[in-house]
Amino acid sequence: MKQKKWLDEYGKENRREDERPSQKTAYFGYRKVPENEKSQWVLRHFNSVARRYDLMNTLLSLGIHHLWKRTAVRIMALNPGDRVLDVCGGTGDLAILAAGAVGRSGRVIIYDINRAMIEAGVDKINASASGERVRFVQGDAERVSFPDGYFDAVMVGFGIRNVTHMDEGFKEMCRVLKPGGKMMCLEFSKPTSPLFRWLYDIYSFHVMPALGGLIAGSSRAYMHLTESIRTFALPDELTALLKQVGFSQVTTRKLTNGIAMIHLAKK
Ligand SMILES: C[S@@+](CC[C@H](N)C(=O)[O-])C[C@H]1O[C@@H](n2cnc3c(N)ncnc32)[C@H](O)[C@@H]1O
Repeated sequence: MKQKKWLDEYGKENRREDERPSQKTAYFGYRKVPENEKSQWVLRHFNSVARRYDLMNTLLSLGIHHLWKRTAVRIMALNPGDRVLDVCGGTGDLAILAAGAVGRSGRVIIYDINRAMIEAGVDKINASASGERVRFVQGDAERVSFPDGYFDAVMVGFGIRNVTHMDEGFKEMCRVLKPGGKMMCLEFSKPTSPLFRWLYDIYSFHVMPALGGLIAGSSRAYMHLTESIRTFALPDELTALLKQVGFSQVTTRKLTNGIAMIHLAKK
C-alpha cells in the first residue's frame, strides 16, 4: 500500500511498529530512529545546512519566511526592557526582530544546541541595528540553563519539530517564563486547501530537494525538511499539548493557507 504523505491522514497511532517493542523510537523525517539517537541525527543535519541556511530559507520560501517571522514577533507585543528567550534560535532572524522591540534595556538570548547554526548567524546579528542586545547560549531545549520565571517572553521558530521530546521542550519554556509571560511558537503546518496542498507537496517533494542538492549540496537534507513537516503535530494537537504542559489562553494564526502556523500562549 502506498504511504500517504501527510502522516496524520495515515493514522499515526495505527501504524505498524516494525522495530523491537522495547526500543523507543522518534521520527527523523519519515525515518524512525532510536529515540536516544535523534539529537545526533538532528545535529548532523544542521551541521550540513548551517552555512547556506539563511540563503536556502529565503530562496525556498521566496522570502515569505521573513514576513511570517515579522508577523510572529509583532503579535507577541513585546515591551521595552523585556527579557526574551529564542529557543532553537539558530541564525537569529526572530532574535533580531525581538531585539528591535525590547529597547536598549531589553535582552534576547538565542538558545540553540548547534554551534555551527549559531556561528552562521553571528555576523548578521552583529550588523543589525539592535544586535548588541542579543546574547548566545549553546544548549538543549529540553534542559534550559536558566532559572524559573527568568523571561518575560519565550519563542521558538521552526525548531520544536527537531526536539526529541517536544513536551519537555515546551515544559522548559513554560518553566523559565514569568507568570503571565508570553510564549510564541512558529512552525510549519498543513495547508488547509486540498488543491494548495497538492501543489505544495509537488513543490516540497520535487523542487525543494532538487534546489537543496544544487545550491546547498544536499538534496537529502531538504527531503528531510519536507518529511519532518509532515510528521509534525497538527495545530489542534499542538494546542492540546501546550495546555497540557501549563500554558493557557492558546490562540493560533494561520499563515499562507496553513503552510506555517503561529501558536501564542500565556503562562
Ligand atoms: C530550522 S532551524 C530554526 C532556526 C531559527 N529559529 C529560524 O527560525 O530560522 C532549527 C534550529 O533548532 C536547533 N535545535 C534542534 N534541536 C535542538 C535542541 N534539542 N535544543 C536546542 N536547539 C535545537 C537547530 O540547531 C537549529 O538551529
